[in-house]
Amino acid sequence: MPSPLILVNLKTYKEGTGNRAHMIAQAAELVARESGATIGVAPTLIDLHPIAHHFAIPVYAQHVDGVEPGAHTGHITADAIRTAGAVGSLVNHSERRLTLADIEASVKALQAQKLSAVVCTNNEATSAAAAALSPDYVAIEPPELIGSGVSVSKANPEIIQRSVATVRQVNPKVRVLTGAGIQSGDCVKIAIDLGTDGVLLASSVVKAKDPGVVLRDLVSRL
Ligand code: G3P
Repeated sequence: MPSPLILVNLKTYKEGTGNRAHMIAQAAELVARESGATIGVAPTLIDLHPIAHHFAIPVYAQHVDGVEPGAHTGHITADAIRTAGAVGSLVNHSERRLTLADIEASVKALQAQKLSAVVCTNNEATSAAAAALSPDYVAIEPPELIGSGVSVSKANPEIIQRSVATVRQVNPKVRVLTGAGIQSGDCVKIAIDLGTDGVLLASSVVKAKDPGVVLRDLVSRL
């Protein structure tokens, strides 16, 4: 059984960019080492290469396009993500919505580079569609709770339970994350007890005065 994944999406928060991205990655590496937990970060594309090279934690891109290297201005290829040292990428976040065809192309591009695909979804139907593409993870996040400070684990545990069941039914090899408002060890424990393989979160760590304190709390009940 791989250990649960705590994946921190730095989004484009000012508090998660540049020096702060390094500071958060450093705290994540320290807490991961102390606790034995798996803590990953998804920095902006600008910070991807330096973070992946400076730290021994799993680093993910926030987006990848399903295109081959070549004449595609402004695109992000899976090949470039792998070269930068990332282990995978988020695909289709509520803040970066893609069509099903785009999601499929992105997942295939990641798989071709042996990178991990974390497809974000917003309900059970999209979770089922995502699971059918056989990504490594489906991450279910009710959009109304994202950045709200209200945890999906406490406000809507039913959606976690139903999504886990849906994904398992479509493809039992796909692991499930959940996110939105995750902020404490209690939230993580509830999510794992409901059958997930970890959490995807952002603001509680990124906007914290001391991200290390929040990270320690997040892994405290694993
Ligand atoms: O990708 C994680 C994210 O959408 C959840 O955000 O701020 O509610 O933890 P947050």
